[in-house]
Amino acid sequence: MKTKRGQGPEKGTGNVSRRDFLRGAGVAVSGTLLVGESMAEPAEASGQARGPGEVPVTLRINGEARQLDLEPRVTLLDALRDRLGITGAKKVCDRATCGACTVLLDDEPVYACTVLAIEAEGHNVTTIEHFSKGGQLHPVMKAFVDHDAQQCGFCTPGFVMASIAFLKNHPNPSLEEVEKGLGGNLCRCGTYHGIRLAVLEAAKTMTAQDEGGSIHG
Ligand code: FES
Ligand code: FES
Repeated sequence: MKTKRGQGPEKGTGNVSRRDFLRGAGVAVSGTLLVGESMAEPAEASGQARGPGEVPVTLRINGEARQLDLEPRVTLLDALRDRLGITGAKKVCDRATCGACTVLLDDEPVYACTVLAIEAEGHNVTTIEHFSKGGQLHPVMKAFVDHDAQQCGFCTPGFVMASIAFLKNHPNPSLEEVEKGLGGNLCRCGTYHGIRLAVLEAAKTMTAQDEGGSIHG
């Protein structure tokens, strides 16, 4: 199973509703996982159960291979935060509700709290750290700052990741499309207006930069 989060009803590969996501997410919380039905290579080829003790896991995170020994029940979020010290993705609800843990799995936004780390093997995991390398902010990050689109900031990394994924499929969105597209993320501080304006602003910036030949990873 590849667990995706909601991205609104429009076109594009992230076309999974919150309801669909929650239905699917229940599969991702079991302890021992039978490998072979839906997991990526190389585990897929074995067709054997792994665990419940620690098993070697190789994750490709922000372009770098990271090797770990993990119990199969460990979520991708816990592996990132607790085992690798990659703490951009936040643990808030830990149950596929708030989106604070959003990362990209092969460019698709997922709730890292409901993806098992071993499910992520064979996929490219991208976290928010990838988008601020060298101290240069991604246009979405800059727009969040410019529009004061955060208060406590706990939801912000998840919103930024969801926004980056959304804009890949919707480079010129309307305000309504932004609202729907980010429907899988919640902000308890209520900064939705600023967030939506920031995404619209980032869309314009990215379109202009793409026309000028700049590419954002
Ligand atoms: S912490 Fe994962 S959705 Fe809330
Ligand atoms: S800024 Fe506080 S939860 Fe969104």
